[in-house]
Amino acid sequence: MAILPIIKIGHPTLRKTAKKVQKFDKELEKFVGDLTETMRFNEGIGLAATQVEVEKQVFVIDKGLINEEWELQAYINPIIIESEGMENVEEGCLSIPGVRADVERPFQIRVRYQDIKGKVIDETLEGLLARVFQHEYDHLNGVLFVDRIPQLTRKLLEPQLKEIEGEYTYR
Ligand code: NI
Repeated sequence: MAILPIIKIGHPTLRKTAKKVQKFDKELEKFVGDLTETMRFNEGIGLAATQVEVEKQVFVIDKGLINEEWELQAYINPIIIESEGMENVEEGCLSIPGVRADVERPFQIRVRYQDIKGKVIDETLEGLLARVFQHEYDHLNGVLFVDRIPQLTRKLLEPQLKEIEGEYTYR
């Protein structure tokens, strides 16, 4: 397994739409292993493929950090079928280090995804797990949590965001 470099806001790949996974093979298993190791190394609760410059519909969530009886999980080709309720909770992101803000999102979602073997799973998620799922799902569609905050808050965060984005301006 390997720890992969995480790209930051300002990198164009974070704005790309990830492609559906077609092959559930050893290569996918290895990638999920690397993504997991990278998430743990950086002490994240979730990590999406696009954050390590891989445009595939894959993310991992360390469910054990939410409920110790749950295990880590990979979500492949995820979709959100239904959502309900709204809640405002503070979020952060490994691609936007040091920045945190309240984000309004549905509290409960009905989702469909495939596991590492390709098995289709339907589930209803709520609370923190639903939130992390939506945050990572957004990454697969080129959306970052700072796109979902009120304009005024975004304005206040702009200097911090510009500083992180500055890393890529020479490219
Ligand atoms: Ni993120």
